[in-house]
Amino acid sequence: MKINFLDLKELNLPFSDDNGGKDILTEYLIGRMFDIHMESSQTLWDRKMFDEELKREGSGFLICYSDSGAADGGDNRLTLKKFTEKDIYPALKIELKSLILGFFIYYNVLDEMHILDITVSKEMQSKGIGSLMLSTVIKKNSEAGIKHFFLEVRTSNIAAINLYKKLGFKIFMLRKKYYEDNGEDALCMVKES
Ligand SMILES: CC(C)(COP(=O)(O)OP(=O)(O)OC[C@H]1O[C@@H](n2cnc3c(N)ncnc32)[C@H](O)[C@@H]1OP(=O)(O)O)[C@@H](O)C(=O)NCCC(=O)NCCS
Repeated sequence: MKINFLDLKELNLPFSDDNGGKDILTEYLIGRMFDIHMESSQTLWDRKMFDEELKREGSGFLICYSDSGAADGGDNRLTLKKFTEKDIYPALKIELKSLILGFFIYYNVLDEMHILDITVSKEMQSKGIGSLMLSTVIKKNSEAGIKHFFLEVRTSNIAAINLYKKLGFKIFMLRKKYYEDNGEDALCMVKES
């Protein structure tokens, strides 16, 4: 399976005020990211938060997808049927049958990255995709001058904590009762490049 990445912010797709500030393709892709988020994440954002982050200066919206995606009738997470090849190419280089595997949202300020969300679709977890996304983003941003990578994670989220430790993140603080939904503590982690 060939894995590809695209960053929605880097595409500079035309923004239009008619559609909440986004072009129709961005709107569609954000919608698919939101589906994966709702299916897999423990800390739920509402849809508006995705839009707000997309507009924020310094944010990044990385989509991880496979070209050997679903056949017709299969998983339709990224079935771009309402678009034509002309809409998709050449800007996106993403095929109509491509399958979104996961996504990564962050924002950069000065020489810091703040990781806001990393999620792999449920059926694709524990296959190395989270590691690939995180290491790809860290490498690219380190080369661009980012020196500190910060994140918060629930103390119960063992898979995510293991992923971060595997990629060299260290715990530097415990934030008590950080999560409003259940009062859970957060581990604050950092990686220095
Ligand atoms: C956390 C998450 C992104 C990890 O992505 P992934 O593709 O499943 O992770 P990988 O397959 O790359 O695994 C990387 C490491 O994470 C750990 N890991 C992955 N799945 C695990 C599991 N079910 N239990 C324990 N550790 C696990 C392992 O240490 C693994 O390294 P190894 O394969 O060398 O043992 C994914 O589980 C996910 O989307 N979870 C829901 C959303 C979420 O909680 N995001 C984090 C918010 S802070």
